[in-house]
Formats: sequence, C-alpha cells, structure tokens
Amino acid sequence: MIVGVPKEIKDNEYRVALTPAGTHLLKQHGHRVIVESGAGAGSGFADADYAAEGAELAATAGEVWTRADMILKVKEPLPAEYPRFREGQIVFTYLHLAAAGDLAGALMQAGVTAIAYETIQLSSGALPLLTPMSEVAGRMSVQIGAQFLEAFHGGRGILLGGVPGVPPGNVVILGGGIVGTNAAKIALGLGGSVVIVEKNPDRMRVLDDMFGGRVHTLMSNPYNIASAVQKADLLIGAVLIPGARAPRLVSEEMVRSMKKGAVIVDVAVDQGGSIATIDRATSHSHPTYVKYGVVHYAVANIPGAVPRTSTLALTNATLPYVLELADKGVAQALSDNPALLSGLNVYGGHCTHPAVAASLGVAWKPARMTGAGAVPV
Ligand SMILES: NC(=O)c1ccc[n+]([C@@H]2O[C@H](COP(=O)([O-])OP(=O)(O)OC[C@H]3O[C@@H](n4cnc5c(N)ncnc54)[C@H](O)[C@@H]3O)[C@@H](O)[C@H]2O)c1
Repeated sequence: MIVGVPKEIKDNEYRVALTPAGTHLLKQHGHRVIVESGAGAGSGFADADYAAEGAELAATAGEVWTRADMILKVKEPLPAEYPRFREGQIVFTYLHLAAAGDLAGALMQAGVTAIAYETIQLSSGALPLLTPMSEVAGRMSVQIGAQFLEAFHGGRGILLGGVPGVPPGNVVILGGGIVGTNAAKIALGLGGSVVIVEKNPDRMRVLDDMFGGRVHTLMSNPYNIASAVQKADLLIGAVLIPGARAPRLVSEEMVRSMKKGAVIVDVAVDQGGSIATIDRATSHSHPTYVKYGVVHYAVANIPGAVPRTSTLALTNATLPYVLELADKGVAQALSDNPALLSGLNVYGGHCTHPAVAASLGVAWKPARMTGAGAVPV
C-alpha cells in the first residue's frame, strides 16, 4: 500500500501522523511511504530522517493526496483539503464529525473511507487512540489554566497551590475520564484543591481509590454543578459521550455566577463544548476570550502545543492500526478487528457510525463485511 503523510495545515499544529520509526516499520512490511517535505519539522523530524528510513519526499500536499492509497493525518481535514478527497481513499485521522457537518458531507460526497481515531473503541469501552492525546490535553489544561489565572493574562491573580497561610485555588473538573484524571494529577501536584464532577458512580469509586481521598468527587447533576462552578477558580470541561456531541453541563447563568477573573478551559470543545458560553473553538494564536468577566480557553488541538511529546505518544498508539490497514487492506482489516470497525465513520458515501449519524441528523448505514469488502447496508 502507498501510505501518504501530508503536513498538517491547522493553525499552529506541529504534530505529524508518522515518525521515522513508523516509516521504518511500514517499509519493513513492504509498503511505500510518501511524506510531504517539512511534515515532521514541527515535531523535530527532518526530511532526511524520513528519507533515511526509505520514505519518498513529496514537494506538495497535492502530490501526497494524489498518490497515496491511505492518508495519515493528525487533525481533521480542513476545507482547503476537501477538493483533494478521492473515492475509495482511506483517510485515517481525528475527525470529530459529530460537530462537523460540512466535513462529514464532503467525505460522504467524495466516497472516502474515513476512519476516525477517536471512535476506535476496544471491547472494554476504552478509546485507545484518544487516550494518549487526552493524557496530554488533561495535563496541559491545568498548566494552561494556571497561566491564565495570572493577573498579567487576565486572570484573578491566583496561585493554584496557595502558600502557607493562603488557601489554594479551587479546580473543578467536569468528567473524571482520561482528561479529567490527568488534569487532577497535575492540579494536585501544583497544590490545588480539586473537585471532579462525574456521572458514573463506578468511575467515582476508582477516582476515590486512586487519589486516596485527596480529590473530592461529586455526582453530576445541575444542582451540584451550579454550586461547584460558582466556587471554581479554574473550571475544566472534560466530559465525553463517545461519538456524540458533548453534553452542555454549564449554563450561561452558571458562568455569570462565576468569580471575575476565573478561568474556563473547555477541553471537550472538540466535541462541541460542555459550557454554554463556549460555542466555538479558539486557536493557539488567539486562545482566549472574556465573557461575563471569565477567561474562556477553547483550543480544540491543545496537544499541538507540545508536538514532540504528542507526536510520539500519538504514533505509539496509531501505528499498530496503520500497519493492520496497510498489511490486510481496509476490508480485511475492518472485518478482523472490531475496534477498527468502530472507527469507521464514513464508507461508500454513507455515515457508518451510529452516534455520529445521530448527532449529524443523517441516516446511519452500518457497514457489513462481505468477502469482497465492507459495504454499507
Ligand atoms: N481540546 C483538545 O485538544 C482535546 C484533546 C484530547 C481530548 N479532548 C476531548 O476531551 C474530552 C474528554 O476526553 P476523555 O478521553 O477524558 O474521555 P473519557 O471517556 O475518558 O472521559 C469522559 C468522562 O466524562 C464522563 N461524563 C460523561 N457525561 C457526563 C456528565 N453528564 N457529567 C459528568 N461526567 C460525564 C464519563 O463518565 C467519563 O468518565 C473529549 O471530548 C475529547 O475529545 C480534547
């Protein structure tokens, strides 16, 4: 198979979907790899590093998209990339289609086989290709929040850890999954006082054991959320319903009740956001805006700020699936691996993921495997 790696074009996105180590493995398995010149530079990988492992370098993104059977990316394709879609071409990347009707439409219209990292799900319910980026984003969310709490950045001038004689800042985390847990680890490490709002009692028990009572857990309901949000210095949105739009847990009125100069970091913005006053993603170059005196941070690609760590963490997780797709071809790979099949969002012009289809309000056509391949039914 010819595997293509274009350079990411999203604002300040420096990750790359394949490393020289991944190139080495794909070549070992008999595949061809085409990398757009400069694609790895932001993560510290030079063209020469890829070439040394046998990659062919392409001068333009167009060349990569035209020649490759499978495109590997990090972020969702942007409108400038839609005209490059080809029927039957595999696009393997983060897609977040539940909140992106235009992109879903473009993929369906072109007949792309679109496999989303974020909906690949193991039988345990774990999301192995979301996990590494959630770990990074969760840890970053507190680092970012602490920075914007500084008066110089518009915050209320709070040091999260406090000092002897001065209480620490209150960190409220909505959702105690991977992002929430990693945020809690860093917030505790900085000396903050941490509350996690969760809806799953079993998860709350795990968190309680994990943190030995140093983190307070709170059942997710509007009453508890309103009271926690009011006290928060730093509010972190970290909820997820896989494949669906994020639930809006914090109303406009709750944001109005927050302290002036408090900070919201809505990590769940990539799924549409969990806070009523966050209705659009911001960018690394313009990461915040202020509403009701509260600093809002809504960058949808937080891990892009630490590309070296993120690229290595992401490709550690994606490479086994890339190899399976390349070695077996899409039909056999989807047939053999239910986790990979759950990643299939668009196939043959149809939406093949139930939660994505429901969020978009389009028909769901589950893909059925036949000897000849996957066909929507
Ligand atoms: N902005 C970014 O750069 C970035 C990076 C990584 C992940 N994310 C996003 O962060 C979000 C969280 O990801 P994750 O990996 O932690 O997911 P996860 O599935 O591990 O955790 C989500 C948690 O939310 C809880 N939850 C669901 N509904 C809830 C509700 N109504 N009230 C309280 N808790 C609720 C779930 O029980 C679960 O524990 C996702 O939207 C993901 O796409 C964003």
